[in-house]
Amino acid sequence: MVKFLFSVIILFFLLSVCSGRNIEEDGVIRLPSEVKEFINGKNIDDDSVGGTRWAVLIAGSSGYWNYRHQADVCHAYQVLKRGGVKEENIVVFMYDDIALNEENPRPGVIINHPKGEDVYAGVPKDYTGRDVTAHNFYSVLLGNKTAVKGGSGKVIDSGPNDHIFIYYSDHGGPGVLGMPTYPYLYADDLVNVLKQKHSLGAYKSLVFYLEACESGSIFEGILPNGLNIYATTASNAEESSWGTYCPGEFPSPPSEYETCLGDLYSVAWMEDSDVHNLRSETLKQQYHLVKERTQNANSAYGSHVMQYGDLEVSKEDLFLYMGTNPANDNNKFIGQNSLPTLSGSVNQREADLIHFWHKYRKAPEGSQRKADAQKQFVEVMAHRMHVDHSIKLIGKLLFGFEKGPQVLEAVRPAGQPLVDDWDCLKTMVRTFETQCGSLSQYGMKHMRSVANICNAGIKKEQMAEAASQACVTIPHGSWSSTHQGFSA
Ligand SMILES: *[C@@H]1O[C@H](CO)[C@@H](O)[C@H](O)[C@H]1NC(C)=O
Repeated sequence: MVKFLFSVIILFFLLSVCSGRNIEEDGVIRLPSEVKEFINGKNIDDDSVGGTRWAVLIAGSSGYWNYRHQADVCHAYQVLKRGGVKEENIVVFMYDDIALNEENPRPGVIINHPKGEDVYAGVPKDYTGRDVTAHNFYSVLLGNKTAVKGGSGKVIDSGPNDHIFIYYSDHGGPGVLGMPTYPYLYADDLVNVLKQKHSLGAYKSLVFYLEACESGSIFEGILPNGLNIYATTASNAEESSWGTYCPGEFPSPPSEYETCLGDLYSVAWMEDSDVHNLRSETLKQQYHLVKERTQNANSAYGSHVMQYGDLEVSKEDLFLYMGTNPANDNNKFIGQNSLPTLSGSVNQREADLIHFWHKYRKAPEGSQRKADAQKQFVEVMAHRMHVDHSIKLIGKLLFGFEKGPQVLEAVRPAGQPLVDDWDCLKTMVRTFETQCGSLSQYGMKHMRSVANICNAGIKKEQMAEAASQACVTIPHGSWSSTHQGFSA
């Protein structure tokens, strides 16, 4: 069994190596420094935005194998900081178990690019560890200090002229986003909080950048127009998003790293914002650029960046949300071709396997480290097979052996929400986890199946019975442990 699993991962690994292509070095357009001009006649200072810039930055994962999400968020903080957004107006959520992790080859340092500098220094630790929760995110966004539990207490205390930028990076699944501390975040709750913020009159416009698998499903058919919210997502409602700068890919991280350093959509927007005068670049221009880069030349290693909400908002300059780094004043945004194409990227859901594999491969023969990496890998695989198998079997028990897979895999037409009754979805997830153990990060991929069970009108009792029949045993590994249940 173990031998077989390793052959599978070796094959996977070789395939990813073979997909590598070259990246253009420094494709960034630079204008001569003499060309200091009043870009679009908008050489205004920050105060003339006529409101305050606020930002919430969230990494929804923990664990060294998820290095990239916290690296993304630290990098985002540096973009905003250099842009002149005040630290007191940026709220950072990150588990903070990366910089000093024993696996980190550069203690105290986090990088988001193979040649990148440290992005960790100076990042405020507003909400870390077990304080990184959906509840705290909502409370922070709503500016409700009394509702926040733990953390720095910093909230988005915004007014009607203010601009809010939210950036989230993690694993997700249809209708859900991960959080390092359960419960996960459901799309309907998030959209309800956004509506509440709007009804408080607490912003002029709000921009949401979202990196996660199936991230389009968070807004598709749910986010109404008219809230002055513009959202872009790393993927559409039914595909994975991608990690990048992964071991074995090109460009790959420095050889001492056994983990991906970033995510494709995330580094695309940040590396663009890093170099341009953001007074001369609109949200819409960045959307197109990021879309092109994230689609990865239509290869299998890319996803479709989507936009939702009030597209009018996208005509505004990035400057309104991110400020701009004075060092880039001469780097006016020009066109489409200023970003390098990245090749090779790793499906978000395989990135942990890549980590355990490289850890295993590099550990000395016969060492405890090698044994640990192998054990972790086997446990991950056992959990995955258990979850996949249980969901499939439940579908067959509920709808019949032929129809089961069809019902579970059905995808609603674009523009429709994943599920009509979100409470049903939450109940069904809880019911599944009670009988079958945690869905966990990986199991989020099955949310569409659970949603389809709701859409088919199945009752909680039927689900409970099918789940108890399907799950006679639960693997012992930490991944399936019910105390990790994501609806906890
Ligand atoms: C803030 O949160 C507290 C505790 O959850 C709640 O009782 C209160 O109504 C909230 N305040 C506002 C203004 O929403």
